[in-house]
Amino acid sequence: MKLIGKFDIRELAERFGTPLYVYDKEKIVANYNKLYLSFSRYFKKFSIHYSVKANSNIHILEVLRSLGAGADCSSPFELRLALLAGFKPEKIVYTGNYESLEDLEYVSQHNVSINLDDITSFWRLKKVTNPEFVSFRVNPGIGKGGFEGITTGGADAKFGVPYEMLYQAYSDAKASGVKRFGIHIMTGSNILEPFYFAEVLEKLMRISGRIFKELQIKPEYIDIGGGLGVPYTDEDMELDIETSVRLLSEVFFEYIERYDLGLPELKIEPGRFLVANAGYLVCKVTGIKNGYKKFIGLDAGMNILIRPALYGATHRVKIYGKDGVVQMVQICGQICENSDILGKNVPVPEIVEGDIAIFLDVGAYCFSMASSYNGRPLPAEVLVDDNSVMEIRRRQTFEDFVSSMILTHLD
Ligand code: LLP
Repeated sequence: MKLIGKFDIRELAERFGTPLYVYDKEKIVANYNKLYLSFSRYFKKFSIHYSVKANSNIHILEVLRSLGAGADCSSPFELRLALLAGFKPEKIVYTGNYESLEDLEYVSQHNVSINLDDITSFWRLKKVTNPEFVSFRVNPGIGKGGFEGITTGGADAKFGVPYEMLYQAYSDAKASGVKRFGIHIMTGSNILEPFYFAEVLEKLMRISGRIFKELQIKPEYIDIGGGLGVPYTDEDMELDIETSVRLLSEVFFEYIERYDLGLPELKIEPGRFLVANAGYLVCKVTGIKNGYKKFIGLDAGMNILIRPALYGATHRVKIYGKDGVVQMVQICGQICENSDILGKNVPVPEIVEGDIAIFLDVGAYCFSMASSYNGRPLPAEVLVDDNSVMEIRRRQTFEDFVSSMILTHLD
């Protein structure tokens, strides 16, 4: 591997330094268009809200906004960022959990749709405003995710209204004056089976359809969250989007008709699917140790790529200009933790100090989960698009690192 888009990776590394996140705009555009086309084939009323938490660089938000996406935010800062990137409030959904009064107050002032995590969230919202619209996130009692840490439905998940309590939630909201309703579900991330989304939707519709009918509610939207997976290894099969959407539409329209629910909009909140494969982490080999095992040390560590340490996730790694496999190595960073392993038993070519290593599929949940642990700066980010390359975040400096520590308290 030598190129990202039309750009030579070694030249990018020399120009912007390493470690460096590089995003390929063309891939984001292709991912969005693929999703949009599939949904438009089966749904008339639908909207795609990019989940800002996956990659919150404002320039990435701007790319998605200009394609027509809405945004899904999970905190007041994310909401401010989405507004700053030019998303219109009516194209923003906000899905928090254990929402504070302060958060609810801020969010409710911005006219965005709020998916509430619980009936207690509703009572908190009532303290700061008199909502005319309410949508609850449902925990349908089941969940599935690429890893346990990214499963967000089922008995162990902290999210959503348990479905047994859903009737109470909507009838309380209705009784207290709410006029317009929506419903939300999100049971896990990085799902590669096309059947799963329809299965979850069916469970949601079975539960909520009857409740809505009984309470004479016609939901304005049904929001099925994110979760669309991407392959991270050569063995993973790509998610069959076309089949996922077709199966979803069959369930959607069957239940809408069965419970006479009008014509709700279908909303989705994809994060990973839109940006994961557009991201590359370019870093340098800083040391090679033949210890009990062979370790390849990089200038990138778990502080800027935490998914392997946190979930046991895998990211493919390539060496600039080298192919083939001659050895199995452990790839690590420079962080003082033994969890700082970015790849276990990775098949690689011959490697020497100074080589450039490139991690694939790091556009989602990598920079956005990064920290300056061990005093290591946050890396720079660049966006390549055809013949142009734009630095969209400069590398953190020592001055940035200390800027929010109140230095005036020192003697
Ligand atoms: N909507 C809500 C309410 C969410 O909580 C999430 C992700 C999404 C949408 C977007 O999900 P996606 O389409 O990206 O699967 N840090 C983990 C992923 C955590 C996902 C959290 N919620 C990882 O690195 O795999």
